[in-house]
Amino acid sequence: MACNCYLVNFTAVSSNPNRSLTCSPKKHTFISRSSASSSTVRFSSLYINRKISRTRFNAPNLQVVASANKAEPLKVMISGAPASGKGTQCELIRRKYDFVHIAAGDLLRAEVAAGTENGRRAKECMEKGQLVPDEIVVMMVKERLLLPDSQEKGWLLDGYPRSSSQANALKEFGFQPDLFILLEVPEEILVDRVVGRRLDPVTGKIYHLKYSPPETQEIAARLTQRFDDTEEKVKLRLLTHNKNVEAVLSMYEDITVKVDGSLCKEDVFAQIDSALRALRKEGQTPLGSLAA
Ligand code: AP5
Repeated sequence: MACNCYLVNFTAVSSNPNRSLTCSPKKHTFISRSSASSSTVRFSSLYINRKISRTRFNAPNLQVVASANKAEPLKVMISGAPASGKGTQCELIRRKYDFVHIAAGDLLRAEVAAGTENGRRAKECMEKGQLVPDEIVVMMVKERLLLPDSQEKGWLLDGYPRSSSQANALKEFGFQPDLFILLEVPEEILVDRVVGRRLDPVTGKIYHLKYSPPETQEIAARLTQRFDDTEEKVKLRLLTHNKNVEAVLSMYEDITVKVDGSLCKEDVFAQIDSALRALRKEGQTPLGSLAA
């Protein structure tokens, strides 16, 4: 039978109203073996931290009722060569799962558009298809991951990490993903996707002149092209990707799912969706009975 592990937080209350007890919330971890939505456990004793001394109270009948915390929000990374369809899939994933989509490339383009010093340095690297230095990217991504919406809804990290140093930095900050998705697409398809890509500056939606054309003339008229979306530049980005991908993959081997990204976007999404559904199901194992 599967075991479940629970963390119980509780704060002790003094039975004597004239005497204040300062005690920090205490955490207990225990294991159960069967299923129930809330559980009771008996403790034989309770430790309370007073201001200076640590006191043990015998509490043979103390009961703590534990109820399931909401399942932790999922944390997902998506990786793949330039134009493998990361942004396109992130939009579909976000729509269904409501994760916070954090795209390193978008954060950098926003910095470029803002005309900051970091943006100017980033643009130089992006034009050459090189990675932007860690001192610019790492903090940018970290700050976004720490915002409350990412913590509450879960995050979908797109195009990050792209090197072992970035992966190590994430680990040091305590960000551990549940799933690493790798989109696999043959190189000849990538070039075709890049040169036909267009962006809608109003909605942020990604189009392709051939595979995903704009719905109306009005949208078609306002589409823009990224400054690094040329055949020459995508080949440079591809070289950078190929040089780094193995090092990143090796750090997430046990949670990697490889997806055939050469199919139509709906079929690519079906593969990702199936992996995410399996992960969600796993995380929703009901609470076990904790009866002593
Ligand atoms: P970034 O913006 O991340 O670019 P990229 O990795 O080259 O990826 P793309 O955005 O080009 O493609 P995508 O995979 O999102 O594909 P999309 O869905 O748009 O990075 C740009 C630069 O920023 C980097 O070169 C680097 O300099 C810097 N940078 C970024 N992250 C960094 C980091 N961590 N560290 C340092 N520097 C960093 O699809 C492409 C096209 O194909 C679209 O037109 C779409 O409609 C079409 N399409 C998508 N899926 C399908 C499908 N299944 N079938 C047919 N067409 C499809």
